[in-house]
Amino acid sequence: MSAGFPPGGLPLDALPTPALLVDRARMEANLAAMAGSIGAAGVALRPHFKTSKCLAVARRQLAHGAIGFTCATPAEVRLLQDAGVEDVLWAHQPVGPAKVAFAVRALARGGLTIALDSLEVAVPLSDAAASSGVTVPFVLEVDTGLHRAGVDPDRAVETAGALCALPALEMRGVLTHEGHLAAHGPDRPGLEAAGDLAGRTLAQVAEALRAAGHECSLVSVGSTPGATSAPFAAGVTEARPGTYVYFDANQVGLGSAGIDQCAQTVLTRVTSAQRPGTVIIDAGIKAMSSDSVATAGSLGVVCDAEGGPLDGVEFAGGNEEHGYLTGPGTAGLRVGDLLRVVPNHACGTTNMWSELYFADGGRAVERHPIRARY
Ligand SMILES: Cc1ncc(COP(=O)(O)O)c(C=O)c1O
Repeated sequence: MSAGFPPGGLPLDALPTPALLVDRARMEANLAAMAGSIGAAGVALRPHFKTSKCLAVARRQLAHGAIGFTCATPAEVRLLQDAGVEDVLWAHQPVGPAKVAFAVRALARGGLTIALDSLEVAVPLSDAAASSGVTVPFVLEVDTGLHRAGVDPDRAVETAGALCALPALEMRGVLTHEGHLAAHGPDRPGLEAAGDLAGRTLAQVAEALRAAGHECSLVSVGSTPGATSAPFAAGVTEARPGTYVYFDANQVGLGSAGIDQCAQTVLTRVTSAQRPGTVIIDAGIKAMSSDSVATAGSLGVVCDAEGGPLDGVEFAGGNEEHGYLTGPGTAGLRVGDLLRVVPNHACGTTNMWSELYFADGGRAVERHPIRARY
């Protein structure tokens, strides 16, 4: 817990606003539910650390059985390695001299696996690792529909062959991020079918790689909307959801969670009410992530101070430190009122903040740093 925070905590009303809250009971319920369902699928749980960037949250995930973490950035990898986490998957290609040098140092500490998808990425890494006497355990990133990074499934065997011919590289398996599931929006059956297909496609790629003589013990899928489908495909060995720890308005829109499961909120106050039909709050675009896949035209779901959604109040826009709430429900709001907003995207919102408060009932009970931000 941060130094200087009073033992026993503070009532929410005493916090400076805006502030980032994590409802501890909701977070614990999310962690237990995901650990239970991924455990029932018979696969390992390796949450993505980008959602919290907070070691206090990561420790709770480990306590719920996470085998380690997924990272996107060097700073996330370093933070977890410094904290003693022994199994880290860096699911982003290390490109450029600074990232390659970091990767070699991080690999030398042990327990790190890196995602690769091309010779262009792999050759400088292999050269640098070989000259330092370090091996590079890697997973081949496969594109199962997002069309971001990753080889097409039918190019996996050829690419793996080329990568495994490099001096320092040792293949461990395959990875996909089924982020394309969000394109199904509220069509949950369509989303589930696409998640199942992503899992089955990756498992088939793993089979083909094994048939070609490659080691492929790790078959890793990962996303929150896909966590009810992709990990259940036969042959998948691990799941990497990230957002599930908090959920968010996007995930509610995709049917991954209900609004009452959203653990991350921005605590804010009404600061001005000069025009009928609009009130201003002290949370603007520097407090929220506007990234919306399922929440067009809104910066988040506005709730009362207890976390219950307010009818007829929309978070219609923002300047840097001002938010615009509109709609008939704003007639009941007064300057000074305390509100909570469920962000569209929890991970992007996390990156805006230096610290978070665990909230329990109406009190902030712990304060923790958020690190490894840009
Ligand atoms: C490689 C990778 N794995 C896992 C995840 C976690 O997905 P989600 O945010 O849907 O939980 C992400 C999210 O961006 C990702 O990029």
